[in-house]
Amino acid sequence: MLPAVTLVMLLAALVHLFVAVYNRYLLGITDSWWKPWIHLVWFVVSVAAPATATIWLLGEGMGPVREALTWSPFTHAGKALFVVMGLLIAFFGVRLLIWFEERVFPERPTGLISERVSEAVVPSVTPTLPRGLRRLETTSDLLVTEREIAVAGLAPAFDGLTIAHVADIHFGQRLEMENYFDGVRNVVAGLDADIIVLTGDFVDTRRDISRAIEYHAGFRGRIGTFYVMGNHDYWTNAKRLREGFERTHLRWLGGGDRRILKRMGRRLIFTGTDAPWDGVWRPDFRRLVRRETGDAVVLLSHTPDNAPAAARNGASLVLSGHNHGGQICLPVLGPMIVPSRYGLRYAGGLYRVGADGLLNVSRGIGASSGKIRVLCRPEICLLTLRAPVVPVMAGRVITARAILKPTENAGEEGVMGY
Ligand SMILES: [Fe+2]
Repeated sequence: MLPAVTLVMLLAALVHLFVAVYNRYLLGITDSWWKPWIHLVWFVVSVAAPATATIWLLGEGMGPVREALTWSPFTHAGKALFVVMGLLIAFFGVRLLIWFEERVFPERPTGLISERVSEAVVPSVTPTLPRGLRRLETTSDLLVTEREIAVAGLAPAFDGLTIAHVADIHFGQRLEMENYFDGVRNVVAGLDADIIVLTGDFVDTRRDISRAIEYHAGFRGRIGTFYVMGNHDYWTNAKRLREGFERTHLRWLGGGDRRILKRMGRRLIFTGTDAPWDGVWRPDFRRLVRRETGDAVVLLSHTPDNAPAAARNGASLVLSGHNHGGQICLPVLGPMIVPSRYGLRYAGGLYRVGADGLLNVSRGIGASSGKIRVLCRPEICLLTLRAPVVPVMAGRVITARAILKPTENAGEEGVMGY
């Protein structure tokens, strides 16, 4: 029993350490100066203490445990150790219960008005897993997740604006995936979104860059198509990729540029960041997402780890990818690979960040390392933005959309531009 508990704790601690080390020391992102101590304490509590105790108890032939159970006065060190072990197991048990509770009763973030998930028909890729396990493979089982969300600060003039959020295509490597990628682009085109955002990880290898540029240029939002770069783009060749995209209609926001939609005297601001892979470890979010006029700001960031700081400084909506929904998800255990300093928290979905910000993390289209998804379906997100609810006289509450007279809506689409 005790060695088994130690093994489980060891596994949990190693996953935690991997995520911590990967983010802090390889990616160079950190929340605050005391974070490393948390990882150290976690490691000691989860591994070092129970491992030492297990080895010691086994060496003693479980004698101290039997002795502790007789509940004689505290004279033997084994009893104290047994109590400590009990507390550690209880601590781990409580964590496990919280972990299950989060999965069985996922939090529905305030701001989510409705959600609809539908199947998308795209050419499938050749399975990687052997025949007996193929039911688990979801590499090309594309879904469209439609979310209607109330966005803080959104002017009624933009109520109903749609954003198709496409992330982590990871173009290339497996050639037969190109049919699947073409299918993805057709599905996005069919959504007829006002804005298309591409949140990075376009390509994995240098030889695929030209084809990747050509492929991504096929995404065209009715008003605009914006993008930021991901870690794989920087590891491949971000400069070449960006130069290629500059010759298309795609607009890079990763350097903090702003694209502003104007309508009926109000503004909706789109901006972005490539941090931390562009070398900026701590972006100046106060400048990046400032809301001088109180208008809503949408931030594109490949990693969702930038979202809490962005929301604290005024971002109304952050659009991210990077975590792939875990990419490999096991039954009960859930997401296995989440390269985030927040662990599993932002694996994929819609989240509340800061006081009134929202974060949409797309599970993405493709897959990195191994090009396989297990029990983790790729997705395109279609977001419909809604202005927050406005209270009116006589105790009635109506949405901002209803306040607009039909004549004010009619013919305004053409005015919308930047
Ligand atoms: Fe990715």
